[in-house]
Amino acid sequence: MSEKKSGAPKHVAIIMDGNGRWAQRRGKPRLYGHHAGARRVRQIVEACPDLGVSHLTIFAFSTENWKRTQTEVAGLMSLFRRYIQREARDLFDAGVRVRFIGDRIKLDEKLVALMDELELMTSGNDKLHLTVALNYGGRDEVARATRRLAHEVAAGRLDPAKVDEQTLARFLDTHVLPDPDLVIRTSGEARISNFLLWQSAYAEYEFIDTLWPDFTPEVFGQVVSRFGARDRRFGGVKV
Ligand code: IPE
Ligand code: IPE
Ligand code: MG
Repeated sequence: MSEKKSGAPKHVAIIMDGNGRWAQRRGKPRLYGHHAGARRVRQIVEACPDLGVSHLTIFAFSTENWKRTQTEVAGLMSLFRRYIQREARDLFDAGVRVRFIGDRIKLDEKLVALMDELELMTSGNDKLHLTVALNYGGRDEVARATRRLAHEVAAGRLDPAKVDEQTLARFLDTHVLPDPDLVIRTSGEARISNFLLWQSAYAEYEFIDTLWPDFTPEVFGQVVSRFGARDRRFGGVKV
């Protein structure tokens, strides 16, 4: 493994968008694009350690994506199941620790069992922390966190006067992760679509035109190296 570069984003989060359009341009069904997109994930995961990226979070399915046709939703769920089954061993061997964020309640039991199993199996790894956002929405996450926090208050275990930003952050799905330094969205859309709303308060953003299935490790490397030139001030001034 190469030496960690200074100025690399520690945590990169990616909104993997554009699978549908990629397929459409080839006259294929949308699921064909999702399969091509899934194949791309492995290369991006593999590229992280050499780029100095220790945490990668990828948006796979949003709380709003249930609005799609039943065929597309079922196809995606089956793709997630097969993906975990197919990739588990290689992820483990590559030293990747996998976590899932999002609400599992709406996901089918078989998929949740595979997710739990992969989290457990890779829990001793730390070469790369890969987090997959599945049935994830930033607002939904804050609402679920608030619900749990309210239960603690009602049970007398938490003093409302002591609730601050750190307290709320402890109830979020991402409580063990650092905030993202860089958020990338592919496909040319310049919006965040409910992704990591709380956590990205000071993230740098890159909106790039490439469709997700065309997002090569080379393009990824260029985006990551551009990050090094950014001047992050976090509300302060440079002295
Ligand atoms: C992103 O690609 C993958 C998911 C949202 C599951 P899209 O399916 O949104 O592709 P476009 O935006 O329609 O091209
Ligand atoms: C965001 O993409 C969700 C994922 C990439 C999983 P969408 O394609 O669902 O977002 P909108 O609908 O264009 O905002
Ligand atoms: Mg899209």
